[in-house]
Amino acid sequence: MIGHLLSAGDLDARSATLILDTAAELGNLAGREVKKLPTLRGRTVVNLFYEDSTRTRISFEAAAKRLSADVINFSAKGSSVSKGESLKDTALTLQAMGADAVVVRHPASGAPHRLAHWVEGSVVNAGDGTHEHPTQALLDAYTMRSRLGRLAGLQVAVVGDVLHSRVARSNVLLLTTLGAKVTLVGPPTLIPVDVAAAPAPGIAVSYDLDAVLPASDAVMMLRVQRERMGDSYFPSAREYARRYGLDGARMRRLPEHAIVMHPGPMNRGMEIAPEVADSPRSTIVEQVANGVSVRMAVLYLLLGGKA
Ligand code: NCD
Repeated sequence: MIGHLLSAGDLDARSATLILDTAAELGNLAGREVKKLPTLRGRTVVNLFYEDSTRTRISFEAAAKRLSADVINFSAKGSSVSKGESLKDTALTLQAMGADAVVVRHPASGAPHRLAHWVEGSVVNAGDGTHEHPTQALLDAYTMRSRLGRLAGLQVAVVGDVLHSRVARSNVLLLTTLGAKVTLVGPPTLIPVDVAAAPAPGIAVSYDLDAVLPASDAVMMLRVQRERMGDSYFPSAREYARRYGLDGARMRRLPEHAIVMHPGPMNRGMEIAPEVADSPRSTIVEQVANGVSVRMAVLYLLLGGKA
């Protein structure tokens, strides 16, 4: 495989499918009493998190440990970063410690790409600003494939704060590579203008959620990212929920087989109603479990695949 995983756009259909197939095999481990493989024994994985995270950080840690790697967790709070140390100096420190892989989350778009120039190990982008989150897209694709049996030809609605969502961007890149069709749905203020003006092949834009639902195989609700919003992008939370929130009545417009996804963390009652989040159609908890298998596959293919 490639030396780093920085963007979902770096994956062609063959390498993306290899990751999903490898994840499926590694996922069988989760059902066993001893959930560990010796594959990455003696290798060091550093989790470098400059931004808050629950699922992604824990998931990468679990993935590395299940492959027997040594894991170092570094969070910007409580480190010399709060004394103003630059990303480059931090990278050189990690390099000196012999990191074989660096999993990085950073508020600045492009930070993982910079880091990849400074360290010798593999860099995995665990979310950079509003840019990309490739392992989230992989675990979402994995979840759709395992629930719906395929990806080619699927109709996927990605709904809400598309503008600020690295999850949406990575999903669009990966899903179209794998032959799915994506409809981006949200208020005009939260859909990137260039995308709305000229959507790429395989992508459509709609401002009408009710019209899109009956033809969707999967609907992916995005968190409204208030921390990234300087101005006001919609009149009120209530108004947003009324037009773009997925509640029980809207969910019933979906075809019987359709699934409801959310990367978490959820704003319950805003983009998704509790009744929907906790319904049998929701794959939210499954997505988290699948995240461990997919991240194991990524680490395995980047670090151990050749051995
Ligand atoms: C997402 C993220 O951090 O980009 N969450 C995640 O990784 N599970 C989405 C979000 O924060 O809304």
